Amino acid sequence: MTKNNIQLSSDQVAIKHREYVDFFRHSSPYINAHRGKTLVLMLDGEAIASDNFANIVHDIALLNSLGVRLVLVHGARPQIESRLQEKQLQTRLHHHLRVTDEAALSCVKEAVGSLRTDIEAKLSMGVANSPMQGARLRVCGGNFVAGKPLGVVDGVDYCHTGEVRRVDHQAIERQLDEGQIVLLSNLGYSPTGEVFNLAVEDVATQTAVALQADKLICFGANDGVTNQQGERHSELLVKAAERLLGRYLDGLSDSEAPHTELSRQLAAITKACKAGVERGHLISYLNDGALLLELFTREGSGTMVIQESYEQVRQASIEDVGGILEIIQPLESAGALVRRSRELLETEIGRFTVVERDGAVIGCAALYGFEDGSAELACVAVNPEYRGGHRGDQLLQAIEDSAREQQLERLFVLTTRTAHWFQERGFAEVELSALPAAKQSLYNLQRNSKVFLKVLK
Ligand SMILES: CC(C)(COP(=O)(O)OP(=O)(O)OC[C@H]1O[C@@H](n2cnc3c(N)ncnc32)[C@H](O)[C@@H]1OP(=O)(O)O)[C@@H](O)C(=O)NCCC(=O)NCCS
Repeated sequence: MTKNNIQLSSDQVAIKHREYVDFFRHSSPYINAHRGKTLVLMLDGEAIASDNFANIVHDIALLNSLGVRLVLVHGARPQIESRLQEKQLQTRLHHHLRVTDEAALSCVKEAVGSLRTDIEAKLSMGVANSPMQGARLRVCGGNFVAGKPLGVVDGVDYCHTGEVRRVDHQAIERQLDEGQIVLLSNLGYSPTGEVFNLAVEDVATQTAVALQADKLICFGANDGVTNQQGERHSELLVKAAERLLGRYLDGLSDSEAPHTELSRQLAAITKACKAGVERGHLISYLNDGALLLELFTREGSGTMVIQESYEQVRQASIEDVGGILEIIQPLESAGALVRRSRELLETEIGRFTVVERDGAVIGCAALYGFEDGSAELACVAVNPEYRGGHRGDQLLQAIEDSAREQQLERLFVLTTRTAHWFQERGFAEVELSALPAAKQSLYNLQRNSKVFLKVLK
């Protein structure tokens, strides 16, 4: 125990331990959900220059050790800017995009090369007593991104300012298969041997699309997108994100690129999502732990942009235990459901049906068959945020179908507070004696539940 802990009372230590165990258990469904998934993380030069970057690197190391496949795409805008200033070079902006002439290109190469070295060094750090201890990350890079010139627009030659032509996703995938972190920059190379200064958002989007990544995560100065009252949108459908973007772009001509950090990132994410990337996230590089909160907690830390929601009713598996417990534990504490330990739930998981929405369990129900041809419907619960959307009905339907398949003819349920919900769905109150003998002997008199029965046709 550390020196600090010695000053805590045993009660405080017990609370800390409880919190730790709860946190770990609540994270487990997400850990399973993210393992083997491909994430593209976009960090512009501001994010890398921030004091919090060291913490972001630790979180990246943690994700890598949990089996998440990671591609980091870094930009270098402020670093390029300061090099240009040092050399007193004036560059032209056209439609908010920098024209990269020969002199500017040498600043771009210097800035990107130097940043890359710093990032690789940070990712290599395995300092004792830090979260990186023993992490031993392997980072690789290369000529994975091909660029082409933007060319001449309105008579202005953009010179070495370019756009992504192609991303060699197969080569990147091979590195990811080896457990390596792939580090890409805002530079692209052409078959003619030229170097192009690309927009980091373009590289990140095209890489995420080429890899059909599970997520594109952009680090910005804000905690995602807020509404007019300043409240954070934790989730936005792609269509809503596009509407918002439309407002940011109002007044810009077609050839103009979005030029605030938020609008550039929102544009990148909506584009990626429309091209098949499942989710986009906008999180803050200033907020310590934002990446972990966004990935491992329900409420997240930024804004997640999603395709139309994906929901299904299916048989539960062992990975769902954490999610089911999250739903039923508050109801157990409130006395609405009978208490079940994690161990019991694990052994009985095969009896459960769940409603899954975007990878998280939001509803559950269980079926226990008896030898006399009856079955108990138990543990019917829907996450309070999602009630009133007929998910209870869907679960009941799935359980009834499953009971019929097992030739079970009567479905009963013991309830203390949901009598009417069942009555409205064809259940009728019966005496305790209508229960199979095995269940009668287990009946908890103290709970004084009512017994309802539905005969399955
Ligand atoms: C019961 C429960 C599963 C219903 O889930 P749901 O997805 O909201 O169900 P549906 O959308 O299909 O049905 C909603 C309807 O049920 C009603 N309802 C919800 N809880 C009810 C209750 N305890 N008693 C009576 N009716 C109830 C709602 O008012 C709504 O009716 P309305 O459309 O007329 O307003 C959910 O409310 C829940 O998890 N409750 C707590 C757990 C519980 O009590 N489980 C049963 C013990 S076995």
